Amino acid sequence: MVANIKSRILSVGTYVPDTVLTNEHFESYLETTDEWIASRTGIRERRVVGKENPMSAADMGCRAARVALERAGIAAADIDGIIVATFTPDNIFPSTACMMQHDLGCTGAFAFDISAACAGFTYALTVANNMIVSGQAKTMLVVGTEITSKTLDWNDRGTCILFGDGAGVVVLQADESGRRDRGILSCHLSADGSMGNLLMLPLWGEERFLKMKGNEVFKHAVRMMADASVKAAEMAGFKIEDIDFLVPHQANIRIVQSVAEQLAVPLDKVVINVEKYGNTSSASIPLALEEAWLDGRVKEGSKLLFVGVGGGFTIGSAVCVI
Ligand code: UT7
Repeated sequence: MVANIKSRILSVGTYVPDTVLTNEHFESYLETTDEWIASRTGIRERRVVGKENPMSAADMGCRAARVALERAGIAAADIDGIIVATFTPDNIFPSTACMMQHDLGCTGAFAFDISAACAGFTYALTVANNMIVSGQAKTMLVVGTEITSKTLDWNDRGTCILFGDGAGVVVLQADESGRRDRGILSCHLSADGSMGNLLMLPLWGEERFLKMKGNEVFKHAVRMMADASVKAAEMAGFKIEDIDFLVPHQANIRIVQSVAEQLAVPLDKVVINVEKYGNTSSASIPLALEEAWLDGRVKEGSKLLFVGVGGGFTIGSAVCVI
């Protein structure tokens, strides 16, 4: 056990496929409109891995990881562990993390996947943070990578319009400076399996599509994300108003706005990019983080609160000072 070590996010990298599906695409064959989708979800377009450009979740994760490694100035060989959050692995095994370990050349890294759906990034970050603070690893890749497009029933207008493909990776490293005021200051995980039937993706059988009772998920998601945000802030010794930016899972702009309203966080302190990517599940928090980091909103010293909720239900939140 290494006492008093904190882990820091050194960098973030992302990848989204080139193919853009706009809301107009759905108007062409479903009973829906751009106006309905944009006003009910905030989504205007999403990226998908097209047939012309086939990629695996591991391929997308590797592209995002190479960007993150380059930005951090870390060599693949210096990575001690890779944790991948995904609900769209290519195989049950080998895991997506093992495929990435090989492709990236992280020869010294352990590697495993976790299943926590749209809360996957917060779950993976929590596990990686705990491995670093306990001294089991020094530098890790925390990955969210999803090809949601292969799980969708493209004739179900209540789900197919919501999701997109993408990947995001952060490099997490032990901060050997001994500072206590930066890095991951708190993580909070919870789950409620009693509502598993509201949002599910069966692995076997005829109906292997993502199924969701949208409006029920919506209600619970708002409450769960707001509660989890307060818990992570308290554990870090902060009040919600101390946080510079809320970086929430991007499921639906109305969910994000309702969470912000419940927490009394003004919308200019909330990172939102659901309009461009839709719900990319475990990739959505790093995709939002990267955008705010690159445009200068997030900088050294920024206090960030990550929060996500996903099928299971799984709920995760974390406070991080960059
Ligand atoms: O990461 C967590 C994963 N979960 C989520 O991201 C989703 C959370 N839920 C939602 O985002 C929203 O519940 C939806 C966007 C899925 C639906 O919005 P809503 O305001 O909750 O609508 P609703 O489900 O209550 O449906 C209202 C109506 C229904 O028609 P009727 O029964 O009132 O005639 C739906 O059939 O809207 C209809 N509808 C649509 N109409 C046009 C559902 N999807 C569409 C559509 N276009 N794409």
